[in-house]
Amino acid sequence: MASRDSDLVFQSYGRCCNKDQFFIDFYEQFMSSSPSIKARFDSVDMKQQRHLLRNGIMQLVLHSRGMSDSKLRDLAKSHSRTGYDINPAWYDYWLDALMATVKRHDPQYSDDTQRAWRSAIMPGINIIRGGY
Ligand code: HEM
Repeated sequence: MASRDSDLVFQSYGRCCNKDQFFIDFYEQFMSSSPSIKARFDSVDMKQQRHLLRNGIMQLVLHSRGMSDSKLRDLAKSHSRTGYDINPAWYDYWLDALMATVKRHDPQYSDDTQRAWRSAIMPGINIIRGGY
C-alpha cells in the first residue's frame, strides 16, 4: 500500500489512542451493532479488554507498515471457531464501529482518513477473519 496512507493511519491512531474514552466509545458503538455481539462481552473485564484492543489495533496498523503477521495469526487462532467462535460477518460491524469512533475522536478526520484506514487495516482484519 502507499506509504502516505500508512502514515495517515499511524498519525490518526496517534491522535485517538491516548484517550481511554476512545476505547470506551468504540465498545459502546460495537456492542450496539447486535445483541449477539453485546452478549459476547457480558462477563468480560472491559477495562482489561480496552487495554488489549489498544494493542490489537496497533498490530493491524503495524502490519500495514510491513510488520510480520505472526501476532495477527495468534488473534486468528483465538477468534476462530475453536476459540471465541467469532462469526466472520461480525468483522464488518467491528470495522464500521472503529471508523465511527475514529470520526468522533480524530479532530483531523476526513473522507481520506477513512479511506486510508479501511485500505490499510483490511488485509490484517482478513488474516484474523480468515482463520475462522
Ligand atoms: C480485527 C478485529 C479484532 C481485533 C484486532 C481484536 C483484538 C482482540 C484482542 C487483542 C483480544 C485479546 C487477546 C486474545 O484473547 O486473543 C481479543 C479478545 C476478544 N475478542 Fe477480539 N478482536 C477483533 C474482532 C473481534 C470481533 C469481531 C469480536 C466479536 C464479538 C471479538 C470478540 C472478542 C472476545 C469475546 C474476546 C475475548 C474476551 C475475553 O473473554 O476476555 N473480537 N480481541
